[in-house]
Amino acid sequence: MTDAPSVDPIEFRQWMSRWPTGVSIVTTHHEGADYGLTVNAFLSVTLDPATVLICLTHDADSTPPILRSGRFTVNELAYDQKEWADRFAQASSPVAKFAGMTVERGEHQVPRLTDTIGSLSCRVVEPTVTVGDHRIILGRVEGLRRGRDVPPLLFVRRGYAISDGDRSELLPSA
Ligand SMILES: Cc1cc2nc3c(=O)[nH]c(=O)nc-3n(C[C@H](O)[C@H](O)[C@H](O)COP(=O)(O)O)c2cc1C
Repeated sequence: MTDAPSVDPIEFRQWMSRWPTGVSIVTTHHEGADYGLTVNAFLSVTLDPATVLICLTHDADSTPPILRSGRFTVNELAYDQKEWADRFAQASSPVAKFAGMTVERGEHQVPRLTDTIGSLSCRVVEPTVTVGDHRIILGRVEGLRRGRDVPPLLFVRRGYAISDGDRSELLPSA
């Protein structure tokens, strides 16, 4: 059976950019080193057992250590943490990404960023699924932390935005 013709990828990207998401930094720790990247492909899958999904490109340096360690933490960013989102979206070394950041560590040494609106500590559920150049990873939530009670950082129309529920504002791009 052949696949039905797909839509134009550029048009698809433009269409999806109108769908707002939160912004997180997904971190892991593997063989003595910390890794992290900015992720908006994050959603809850089921409440019982508490399970989330992240979708990571194979090209990201953080993807292999997340798969090998079998652990990751989702750090959900607040409205005033756009600089962190930019920093962890760069193809820079993990050491540069974490420089000057205050982190706490759980049982498996995975860094948890402080001052976010919350974090979820997860264990990778096997099997993971490859789709094109991305890997869909399910995570069983083993711990959660609530952080600051402030609006989240949002990503929409290829830029950052904030919303307090009554009012939304697009943030100026860097
Ligand atoms: C707002 C935003 C959301 C992103 N979401 C994802 C995502 O869901 N999955 C992904 O693989 N990359 C995502 N990226 C891109 C990665 O953060 C980027 O490729 C990063 O450089 C990877 O870092 P690493 O190679 O050190 O792991 C996103 C970037 C931005 C700016």
